[in-house]
Amino acid sequence: MNASRSDHALELLSLKKTFGGLTVTHNVSLSVSPGERRLIIGPNGAGKTTLFNQISGDLRPNSGVVRLFGRDVTQLPPYRRAHLGLSRTYQIITLFSGDTLEHNIMLGMLGLRPSRWQMCRPLSFYGDLATEAHRMLDTVGLLHLAGRPISDVAYGEKRRVELAMALAQKPRLLLLDEPLAGLSNAERSTVKSLITSIPREITIIMIEHDMDTALELAETVTLLDYGRVIVDGERDAVIADERTREVYLGT
Ligand SMILES: Nc1ncnc2c1ncn2[C@@H]1O[C@H](COP(=O)(O)OP(=O)(O)OP(=O)(O)O)[C@@H](O)[C@H]1O
Ligand SMILES: [Mg+2]
Repeated sequence: MNASRSDHALELLSLKKTFGGLTVTHNVSLSVSPGERRLIIGPNGAGKTTLFNQISGDLRPNSGVVRLFGRDVTQLPPYRRAHLGLSRTYQIITLFSGDTLEHNIMLGMLGLRPSRWQMCRPLSFYGDLATEAHRMLDTVGLLHLAGRPISDVAYGEKRRVELAMALAQKPRLLLLDEPLAGLSNAERSTVKSLITSIPREITIIMIEHDMDTALELAETVTLLDYGRVIVDGERDAVIADERTREVYLGT
């Protein structure tokens, strides 16, 4: 077996995705090493979320390959990729607002939708999951709200629930789509510390517009524009690159 295949947490080989006549991902190739903290930047509409959707399996590419921990997962549905250690948060919050914080996290661990939840065994059956959900809520500082419905908690707290939900799945690769968007300075600082405290066994790829915060967390950066990788490499080199200034910083 080719050694390089299994050395990466993630490899994308010439991914292409079109919507109608619009090419949104244009032969994107990149690789991320285990433990890496990778930041994806680019203007609105550059194709960042669409790229995440192809990594997670929410979208299938028209062509190209997605390899997760050395395994070709291009044709696998999201739940199979989750079993291989992939977990993500979404740009738009996807929590079930009528249900409690702890149930949302348990649902995530079970990979279930609320309708299926109703058909399942009584909650008491899931004692271990409840314990784990509480542990995760404690990690993100929200244990005191475990039994409250999502609709009762503030936006910044919902963002933290999402992070707890993603971590509860015990990922090896975590995709964070703008985890700091819309947060106050205080909330941003809380979520930033949480992300910093995630252990190195978990590889992180993060999309973020708040450059100052994002750059503090990133070691490597990929700049996308019009669905193409424009610059890719060590953080400082990418930031100093003239093409980054042209595309992203607008100077
Ligand atoms: N399901 C879809 N159908 C049609 N076009 C889509 C779809 N999803 C995304 N697009 C288009 O693909 C392009 C890239 O969108 P995407 O959401 O990936 O960008 P982004 O880089 O995440 O932007 P932002 O920074 O605003 O979140 C945009 O032109 C968008 O309108
Ligand atoms: Mg996006």
